[in-house]
Amino acid sequence: MDGVVTSMQLTRSPAWVALEKHKKEMASLHMRSLFERDPGRFRRFSLSSCDILLDYSKNRITEQTMALLFALARDADVEGWRERMFRGERINVTEDRAVLHVALRNRGNRPILVGGKDVMPAVNSVLGRIAAFVARVRSGEWRGYSGKRIRSVVNIGIGGSDLGPVMVCEALRPYGRDSGLQMHFMSNIDGSHVQEILDQVDPETTLFIVSSKSFSTQETLTNALSCRRWFLDSGAGEAAIARHFVSVSANVEAAQRFGILPDNVFGFWDWVGGRYSLWSAIGLPIALYIGMERFEELLAGAHQMDEHFRTTPLEQNMPVIMALLGIWYNDFFGAQSHAILPYDHYLHRLTAYLQQAEMESNGKRVQRNGEPVDYDTCPVIWGEPGTNGQHAYFQLLHQGTRLVPADFIAPLESYHHLGEHHAILLSNFFGQTRALMWGKNAAEVRAELAAAGMQGEELEALVPHKVLPGNRPSNTLLIPKLTPRTLGSLLALYEHKIFVQGVIWRVDSFDQWGVEFGKQVAGEILPDLQGSGPVEKYDSSTNGLIGFYLEHSARKG
Ligand code: F6P
Repeated sequence: MDGVVTSMQLTRSPAWVALEKHKKEMASLHMRSLFERDPGRFRRFSLSSCDILLDYSKNRITEQTMALLFALARDADVEGWRERMFRGERINVTEDRAVLHVALRNRGNRPILVGGKDVMPAVNSVLGRIAAFVARVRSGEWRGYSGKRIRSVVNIGIGGSDLGPVMVCEALRPYGRDSGLQMHFMSNIDGSHVQEILDQVDPETTLFIVSSKSFSTQETLTNALSCRRWFLDSGAGEAAIARHFVSVSANVEAAQRFGILPDNVFGFWDWVGGRYSLWSAIGLPIALYIGMERFEELLAGAHQMDEHFRTTPLEQNMPVIMALLGIWYNDFFGAQSHAILPYDHYLHRLTAYLQQAEMESNGKRVQRNGEPVDYDTCPVIWGEPGTNGQHAYFQLLHQGTRLVPADFIAPLESYHHLGEHHAILLSNFFGQTRALMWGKNAAEVRAELAAAGMQGEELEALVPHKVLPGNRPSNTLLIPKLTPRTLGSLLALYEHKIFVQGVIWRVDSFDQWGVEFGKQVAGEILPDLQGSGPVEKYDSSTNGLIGFYLEHSARKG
């Protein structure tokens, strides 16, 4: 399967070498002069699809840069890998699985085969079950054990079984407000997270969703057991569990063994990666909150982007362009991180969600064939919504020593027509990308200080501090309004960007062995914390820390 793409060291491939040479030519070029030279730059380097405008003109690129980057993508056979994914081939090589989150939102129902079998009937059947369940809960037909309707939903899950649902529910709050449901997301094994949520809900009116693809994740199972105990301790009998606990899992048998009735288990499949699962039954809390129709609009928005990605030539392909720009800075300019900055309060969990999507997917050090990479893969993804970030870390973006490429994301229209708020928000949004790109040179600083009445040594002493070098790259993504459809398209855009980068970096973007090891180590240490010590089997630091904990526990009794 790897025949074509790994036959030559990536960094020795003609496309890579040409980009390295081109980077040297670009090193002294300032984006200011690129804009001054070409009044059509915005038009040349922007495109629109699925109601998303991507302006990538504020990047350190020329047409030649883009041509070389597209050549890199062709060399990596991005088109071939894209086809393999949509065809249901087992491109997750280390787990020997297909990668088919696109099937979950395949609204045209084009047959998609895994092992020769069309998966669409099963996908549609689960969607039908979700629709029926959502209708019953939202209409009040589904009642708690004492006859009261459901008022609170507690999703118990972690990673992909948490981040997607919570991010979307937050993003689409204007659509969930009339659901009559309070949504809670319990993820952390920390008992404080569990207790804080249980303190807010009433057992008679609460629905717990145990969400776990594997149904073996320690955090989720422990939290679910604690909720079950709390529920039974409240006086509800065992029989009441059927009215208050449902589960979403690819491991239906394990969910049933846990005590969830077969009718209350919503299944999905091993070809849905955890971090790509919000489109599956893992999206149940979303559907409960915003309603099934809106959930289907979310799927439709993602499907629209899937079709754009699947059918558009690389040169006009939005996810491909974003992927290539990321690689340009990551691998040729040494950028170590990438900021994702939504200027929309409702998107306040987006970056956390994308941290998992990007870093769990492409935070890899070996290629699909097991050979180590000799280039950088995924950057650190970080960011907070604007304008808060401007008053925290933007100083470094403007004048620090590190290059941090950034994606700025905003809706043209807000849900709240509150005076000047949205215009002010957008003025900051447009202003920041302009300032990062344009900067302020010494002559401009001098003129500004002189106009303010300053002169001589006093003025000169301040100049270097007030110079902003500019030439700092960003992408701008604009959507008309944050709706289920535009959100679906935006998320699928990032998923495919991640896919393309993984193909070029030649990594398996769909496994997560590092995370698995963390789970294993915690499992080994737990019995030591439950014993009386001392512990000597680990390194001196770990032995010492465990000892410190045990001594403290012994003192406390
Ligand atoms: O963080 C590792 C991981 O395996 C993720 O990929 C997944 O989203 C998360 O754990 C939760 O796993 P599960 O849904 O199986 O409980």
